[in-house]
Amino acid sequence: MRADLIIVHAEQLLTMAPSGDAPSAGSPASIPFAGMDQGRIGLIEGGAIACLDGTIVAIGPTEDIMARVQEDPDITTIDARGKIVTPGLVDAHTHLVFGGTREREFELRARGATYAEIMAAGGGIHSTVRATREASRTELFELAHARVQTMLELGTTTVEAKSGYGLDLDTEVKQLEVLMELSRRHPVDIVPTFMGAHAVPRDQDPETFVTWLVGDAIPKIAIRGLARFCDVFCEKGVFTPEQTERILKAAQANGLGAKLHADELCDTGGAALAAKLGAVSADHLHHANPEGLAAMAQAGTVAVLLPGTAVFLGMTEHAPARKMVELGVPVAVATDFNPGSCFSESLPLMMSLAVTQLKLTPQEAWVAVTRNAAHAVGRGHRVGSLEVGKQADLVLWNAPDYRMVPYRMGINLVDTVVKLGRIVHRRGAQPEALRI
Ligand code: NIG
Ligand code: FE
Repeated sequence: MRADLIIVHAEQLLTMAPSGDAPSAGSPASIPFAGMDQGRIGLIEGGAIACLDGTIVAIGPTEDIMARVQEDPDITTIDARGKIVTPGLVDAHTHLVFGGTREREFELRARGATYAEIMAAGGGIHSTVRATREASRTELFELAHARVQTMLELGTTTVEAKSGYGLDLDTEVKQLEVLMELSRRHPVDIVPTFMGAHAVPRDQDPETFVTWLVGDAIPKIAIRGLARFCDVFCEKGVFTPEQTERILKAAQANGLGAKLHADELCDTGGAALAAKLGAVSADHLHHANPEGLAAMAQAGTVAVLLPGTAVFLGMTEHAPARKMVELGVPVAVATDFNPGSCFSESLPLMMSLAVTQLKLTPQEAWVAVTRNAAHAVGRGHRVGSLEVGKQADLVLWNAPDYRMVPYRMGINLVDTVVKLGRIVHRRGAQPEALRI
């Protein structure tokens, strides 16, 4: 067997493969893990992985893999003794491109104001909309590039990113074009989502704005291939379930997949709506009701939980993650990276919060940021697990046990990141040394 990269002697190799502990034999099954499988990390001790041209060609115990790989002086070999090796993390929910920051609001919340009050008074999302409209393309690109580089250094290799700080065609297109250029020029893959339905502009009435989204913005964005998904902030005081349905049906008719910010601040029936529309994911879900969750389980809609947002907004209650696992809803965990409700790029930190606040086990949290997150962004067939035929996106961590990553809260244990079979980050190395 030919290979151009092999990683050997990993203390623990986490495959997230359906066949459990056995090496994968072939076709990667494309479903997220739910219920009893939510914690199926597919652990191989003393594991190795061989890659060729950016694709995984073999995975299993080190002796087996070494015996099968042809001797070749050009092979890059990485010794992973004392380290764990996992799939590259997938951040399934971010608002990556924006101008300005909102530290004043952060202080106001500490002094008692709520997120909804600040937004209703013209701050919140509206203030980022003003700053994003004013920012140049180059400025937005440079800001987003630095953020995505931080994500890479924290182990993330695929990122979903939303527009939604324009609320007019020019600025929404500007954000989506920045994302497209970023995906081309940075090793991290970006999955773009159109979120014109993030807020109603302050000078417009909701119905007129929804009609514009449905009849004008969505078709124009879709025909230019600028987005893969469409997302709506379905929330009291933002978009009603009826408006959400109109918007997402128009998106689907134009070939975009559906996503929802659902039941974040109160229960609006968002979970059931996501299931009914066949949305790929429903996100937040703090206040989702059990019937809605059961409908999501039935439909296979992934719940993308954002524990960083709850903590950042000072909420004491968290999304009912255990209930979701019990009902068979596939659970993913993401950062929600944005300047208002969670200004952190760190998925490992979100794993810590998933374990301590959502009460997911470390195994369940690992599946939530890899396999299930990949399915939440329509990439489950390519990334999120280490299986023969899948993309060689992987991370070596400076830890002998996978539980250390969520356990070492706020500490970055990433050692090496491989994207499409190439080393794109090494702890302590300058990016130029890696020619990225
Ligand atoms: O997911 N909920 C809506 N959108 C973001 C917050 C965006 C902002 O405050 O700028 C969220 O929490
Ligand atoms: Fe969000």
